[in-house]
Amino acid sequence: MSENTATPPAAEPMVRIEGLWSVFGKGDEAFAVHQDLDLSVQRGEMLSLVGGSGTGKTVLLRQMLGLARPARGSVTVLGRPAAEMGGEGAAARVGMLFQHGALFSAFNVLDNIAFALREQGTLPASLVRDAAMVKLQMVGLKPEHASRMPADLSGGMVKRVALARALIMDPPLLLLDEPTAGLDPSSSDDFCALLRELHAALGLTVVMVTHDLDTLFALSTRVAVLAEKKVIVTGAPREVARFPHPFIEHFFQGERGQRAMAPLEAS
Ligand SMILES: Nc1ncnc2c1ncn2[C@@H]1O[C@H](COP(=O)(O)OP(=O)(O)OP(=O)(O)O)[C@@H](O)[C@H]1O
Ligand SMILES: [Mg+2]
Repeated sequence: MSENTATPPAAEPMVRIEGLWSVFGKGDEAFAVHQDLDLSVQRGEMLSLVGGSGTGKTVLLRQMLGLARPARGSVTVLGRPAAEMGGEGAAARVGMLFQHGALFSAFNVLDNIAFALREQGTLPASLVRDAAMVKLQMVGLKPEHASRMPADLSGGMVKRVALARALIMDPPLLLLDEPTAGLDPSSSDDFCALLRELHAALGLTVVMVTHDLDTLFALSTRVAVLAEKKVIVTGAPREVARFPHPFIEHFFQGERGQRAMAPLEAS
């Protein structure tokens, strides 16, 4: 990677969010989803973002992607405002696996993966294809899957294609919105293993929204809890699980939470 004056100091976090307000609607109808929210994500972290439905987890990822704009406060990625990344530049800095991870149904697997690189229009078609084939294999799919259509893929394969598509431009930051939702337990474990491998191999920083405690404990280096329009606590999964707050008690102390934490308590 070439050094230039835009290179931020090494200490700059991957993501820095300060005093963020996310507001929808206008005038009397306006409502804030985030109010004075702060969150920093250091390079190399795998941060899980948890919170009740509608607390603004997806909106927070969209802020990091530059698709939503702060009404107040700032969201920077590697020292630059996320909203300035613009459509094209964004894919090179941030990859996103969307919550309802839709692929383009009229495109085959390879064309889905290649999408951002092809849109950029700087590489010849054969190189775009080669790059997409590399990503296809990186997520554990086979060359013969390249020509399949999305409708002919299993749920686990759709997630893998969506992941390859998010990584096509080698972004340093990967955002995952409910990456294992809708997968059966075994596909979910396989997908977690893949995410863990790629995180290590590519030196990625990952911010992941999940409701799934097995996924959370399998992957997170840190957890941030979204409630009352803010990040109310961050820390190691087991520390956060003990933080006194009704949402956290419900989330971690329920039956599923106890089951997911049992192996950790024993170790
Ligand atoms: N473009 C938009 N216009 C208006 N309101 C929006 C928009 N996007 C999100 N919201 C509202 O912001 C709030 C937070 O939505 P968000 O999708 O971030 O929740 P979430 O925490 O991801 O929930 P879930 O766990 O169900 O996915 C919701 O009340 C939602 O209706
Ligand atoms: Mg959401």
